[in-house]
Amino acid sequence: MKKSLLGILLLGLVINFTTYASEQAAVAMPDAYSADAAKAILEKGGNAIDAAITAQFVLAVTLPEAGNIGGGGFMLVKKGDTTDFIDYREKAPLTAHRDMYLDENGDVIRGLSVYGILASGVPGTVSGMWLAHQKHGSLAWNDLVQPAVDLAENGFIVHPKLGRSVAGFIQRMKAREINVNFADYFADAKADTLFKQPELAATLKRIRDRGPDGFYKGETADQIVAFMSKHNGLISHQDLAMYQAKSRQPIRDKWQQYEVLTAPPPSSGGIAVLQWLKIYEQVRSSYKTMGHNSADYVHLLAEIGKRVFADRAAYLGDPDFYPVPVQDLIADAYISQRAAQINKTAISITDEIDPGLYESEETTHFSIVDKQGNAVSNTTTINLGFGSGMVVEGAGFILNDEMDDFSAKPGVANVFGAYGGKANEIQPQKRMLSSMSPTILLKDNNVKLVTGSPGGTTIITSVYQSILNAIEFDMTAEQAVNTPRFHHQLWPKDTIRYHPNLSESVIEKLKALGYTMQERRFGDLHMVINRNGKLEAASEASGRGKSIVF
Ligand code: DON
Repeated sequence: MKKSLLGILLLGLVINFTTYASEQAAVAMPDAYSADAAKAILEKGGNAIDAAITAQFVLAVTLPEAGNIGGGGFMLVKKGDTTDFIDYREKAPLTAHRDMYLDENGDVIRGLSVYGILASGVPGTVSGMWLAHQKHGSLAWNDLVQPAVDLAENGFIVHPKLGRSVAGFIQRMKAREINVNFADYFADAKADTLFKQPELAATLKRIRDRGPDGFYKGETADQIVAFMSKHNGLISHQDLAMYQAKSRQPIRDKWQQYEVLTAPPPSSGGIAVLQWLKIYEQVRSSYKTMGHNSADYVHLLAEIGKRVFADRAAYLGDPDFYPVPVQDLIADAYISQRAAQINKTAISITDEIDPGLYESEETTHFSIVDKQGNAVSNTTTINLGFGSGMVVEGAGFILNDEMDDFSAKPGVANVFGAYGGKANEIQPQKRMLSSMSPTILLKDNNVKLVTGSPGGTTIITSVYQSILNAIEFDMTAEQAVNTPRFHHQLWPKDTIRYHPNLSESVIEKLKALGYTMQERRFGDLHMVINRNGKLEAASEASGRGKSIVF
């Protein structure tokens, strides 16, 4: 008896091992330079975190729309049996204040938090990469930064999509008479030509040689502060010296047979993704069938979205400043209560408020799994494409426009149509609320999938739908990132944004239910899936991503 029990246990272990152990590594990256650089680091014996650090710096050179050292982000780490969440989100400068974007009548001056010198929070990326390296890295820091130095110094070939977005951004700034210095630095980034960034190379060398002191102190800090003084910006030496990335506990919760690791506040993403998945799980059992991207499916997920975004607006902000009720918002009892409110046949009523104004969307994400089964899910941003449009003179990097992620005034939406109040009002040193949702699913403590995307508030949707696609509908990574998605976030009222190729008959049914249907692509998923020990990696076809399993 005892023997057979042992046998069963051993068999279980073997099955478990054969199901999940992998001899492979995989990278799903937003461009070819970051993919090749991350792969090279893994092949040199670096771990997933080393590869992520290299990729982050490379993207600051080759993907200036979103890759950055002048912004921030979140890195979710699974290393051996430990998990970590490196929060390198930007912070409001010390002299920022609640009403800094309001005019004398108390109305929001929209452009101020989006373009120009006042739009930037104190950058967190260099501190974040350093902290990740101190805690989890294995190769030498300078070797991890060097590939980015090389690409900035020797140049890289501009992808046609980058060439187009550079030209488009310059054009838009001109047409709207927005005074930013972006064109001085990027006008030469033309499709299929070699583009060098000598000032950025020099900045990266200081970071390579001195770590965070090469950015937050010394010459780079002086350049940032001089640039701020020249244009009446807020970021000071003290702001830079005080910036410190934080290691936080990832949110960890069960969903189906998986353990979900995801982003805690100051991201709204993890709570939102879990609410979406958990409410879905409860309600779907009451449907006879629930076809992928059917009208019922889209409506159900839109109904859930209303609740998710109502909670986001009311309760979420920087946990260092505001008591975010994380556990309450994902507790089973609360999920059941929310699930019971879902109207399966009609649209729940929302009050009319002005819709937010959408802008071009760029952030970037990558997912990495190494041969030891460690994983990194990293989303990083300067907010909108090319951030504030301001390039630090002499230092050659773009500053973020992340301040727009704060709630400038209750009842007024930000560029992503998101509302907020007290929880996300501006305060000195506070981190603005984010939707970035780097997520990892584990099964028996092994990585099952790694996912993430850009897209402002739609990030949450891309992430939870990629999980449903892969797990609930058993899609390959390639299918899971490329199948059409749809997004609803409470406001604009009853509006569903959807990718091209959502079926016409589904669109008609949703219109008949009362939805306004808006065709517009969003997101850029980069995903790794472990299918019985074989890794699949995929980058969304509409972007310029590259994925490799090796
Ligand atoms: O942190 C956030 O939620 C936003 N700043 C992300 C911005 C973004 O994803 C832009 N576009 N794709």
